[in-house]
Amino acid sequence: MNTRIIAVVNHKGGVGKTTTTLNLGKALALQKHKVLIVDSDPQANLSQSLKIEDPKKDIYHALVEKEKLPIVKIDKNFDIVPASLDLSGAESKLIMDVNGYFRLKEALKPVTEKYDYILVDCPPSLGILTINALIACTEVMIAIQSQYLAIKGLNTILELVEELRKNLNPYLRVAGMLLTQVNRTVVSKNIVESVQKTHKEKVFQTVIRQNVAITEASTVGQDIFTYAPDSMAADDYRNLALEVSKS
Ligand SMILES: Nc1ncnc2c1ncn2[C@@H]1O[C@H](COP(=O)(O)OP(=O)(O)OP(=O)(O)O)[C@@H](O)[C@H]1O
Ligand SMILES: [Mg+2]
Repeated sequence: MNTRIIAVVNHKGGVGKTTTTLNLGKALALQKHKVLIVDSDPQANLSQSLKIEDPKKDIYHALVEKEKLPIVKIDKNFDIVPASLDLSGAESKLIMDVNGYFRLKEALKPVTEKYDYILVDCPPSLGILTINALIACTEVMIAIQSQYLAIKGLNTILELVEELRKNLNPYLRVAGMLLTQVNRTVVSKNIVESVQKTHKEKVFQTVIRQNVAITEASTVGQDIFTYAPDSMAADDYRNLALEVSKS
């Protein structure tokens, strides 16, 4: 079985990386795939959005202390590796080690076979934590908020992916670009059209519409399928999961 490891990236903040890791992960789990989501962001938003605060062990211990990857079961077919704010201390430590870019890859190795999908939520930077994810993964999903200035910096990510593919991770491919927070404004429409025109088949057909249920769900510590299974956002993430599993 070939596990698909997908890094959800964009060094721009607030574009929907964490929301997508959580809800795409849950949608895949509901579609009977075995899923692990990994919080690799020192903001620890993914963990917080599931009400996992101050976990005893978190990804920091696996990356920095080289301990076993701590895995917490959330639901059927759905596990998480949590983060805590301690992770902000990891970057300066990892950078001191020549193998500091390979820690996530090493940590995932013993558990990879247990899962169909591993989704890694990256911080809003292209620093060593994101590079760890890009070296550990088989695919990268680029979340793009359909708002003004969204496309700035996209080429930087694509160039980094290409560089890593050539030199460190020959298996790396772009799973796709995901347009998020799409609404009916002219700006949003223009961004969607422009990204689709420029990047064509690299863009997921499914777009994630702006939906207040997403914010409400995260404030009560739930995924969208638990909080509002009939919402637009639940439909969108269900469709995205189907599209991802067919690609
Ligand atoms: N489709 C959506 N509709 C409405 N609100 C959304 C949607 N997607 C995300 N949001 C909201 O936008 C904010 C940013 O989303 P999220 O935290 O997923 O982005 P991020 O890329 O992980 O941010 P960061 O770069 O800080 O990690 C959150 O408050 C989230 O609830
Ligand atoms: Mg985030």
